[in-house]
Amino acid sequence: MKNKKNILVTGGAGFIGSHVVRLLVKKYSSCQIYNLDSLTYAGNLENLSDIESKNNYKFLKLDITEAEAISEAFETYKFDTVVHLAAESHVDRSITDPLAFARTNIMGTLNLLQAAAKLWKADFKDKLFYHISTDEVYGTLGETGLFTETTAYDPNSPYSASKASSDHFVRAYGETYGLPFIISNCSNNYGPNQFPEKLIPLFINNIILEKPLPVYGDGNYTRDWLYVIDHAIAIDLILSEGKLKQTYNIGGFNEWKNIDLVKLLCKQMDFKLGKPTGTSEQLITYVKDRPGHDLRYAIDASKINSELDWSPSVTFEEGLSKTIDWYLNNEAWMEKVTSGDYLKYYKEQYQ
Ligand code: NAD
Ligand code: DAU
Repeated sequence: MKNKKNILVTGGAGFIGSHVVRLLVKKYSSCQIYNLDSLTYAGNLENLSDIESKNNYKFLKLDITEAEAISEAFETYKFDTVVHLAAESHVDRSITDPLAFARTNIMGTLNLLQAAAKLWKADFKDKLFYHISTDEVYGTLGETGLFTETTAYDPNSPYSASKASSDHFVRAYGETYGLPFIISNCSNNYGPNQFPEKLIPLFINNIILEKPLPVYGDGNYTRDWLYVIDHAIAIDLILSEGKLKQTYNIGGFNEWKNIDLVKLLCKQMDFKLGKPTGTSEQLITYVKDRPGHDLRYAIDASKINSELDWSPSVTFEEGLSKTIDWYLNNEAWMEKVTSGDYLKYYKEQYQ
């Protein structure tokens, strides 16, 4: 990659981060890719077992909330590029433990910004702080309309408020100290390696185990879904061709009401498991709604589409089918991440 040598990816052991790390390690053999992750419940180095022995890959077990350790890592490894994904990412957990989200998503981001500003201040040329954010910072839409890059921030959950705050800090470091930055705001990702607390992998696991499928409220909430590898491709494109100080919205042009998505998932699962159509749908159970539940997210991704020629490579039906196949072929992965603390979380969240 032109003018980039030491690329730091934070949160690279998580869902999206692991796909980003794999893509960068494989594509840029002349760059050193550092994966900095504290390995919370959501971090799993098995997500990267296929590339862990590559010469241009190094794992750093560090916590972004620890300012001194982060500053030392910047001094030691001389990162010239940061792709920042490390975060607490689950809305439901942010409702039960908002402070954890403030610590990691706000203070953790600030620690990275401080360390980058300190190391780079003599010369910002060819440096980049690329912050990965979410469409949830824009709040909720009614039945119509789309989030554009200029939609005002209006977050409703502790998670989205913490992400919005971190986005503001990144922009403020750009304006105040001249730190070169880019931000992208993406819609709901799905695909291999997603922790089964999020809708799609949770429901795949419950269908396999023939457990209830807990649909919040009336199920008429709408999300825009993007296959995770398409997000990783967009991130790589923005990293190499994005313009400084810009925001890029990334989305799948793919809106689904939760209940319709769940029914499609049930249909595909019945087919793959050799069960009569309609079997898994019987597991659908309407449960208490999520507090502050945003009605609808929908991204206008025309800027990245026209400026960087990016668009999703798979349809939702294809992506969902690949995702189900991955989970069916990786039962050991699922069993490992759903033992221990997961059982406690599940009980507290759903019973
Ligand atoms: P994830 O929860 O799967 O992974 C987060 C990773 O960050 C884990 O590996 C975890 O160990 C690490 N981490 C958490 N706290 C840390 C800390 N204090 N120090 C170091 N590492 C820490 O999350 P994800 O779904 O892959 O999301 C990654 C990023 O993308 C997040 O910033 C999220 O806000 C954003 N995002 C996610 C989605 C989505 O649909 N999942 C959509 C848009 C944006
Ligand atoms: O929009 C981007 C965001 O998408 C990311 O920033 C977040 O990190 C990511 O977690 C995701 O947030 P959501 O809250 O939209 O995703 P989740 O999978 O938790 O829920 C998707 C929808 O499904 C939402 O309307 C809530 C509903 N849901 C979720 C769960 C876990 C249920 O009905 N039942 C459930 O058990």
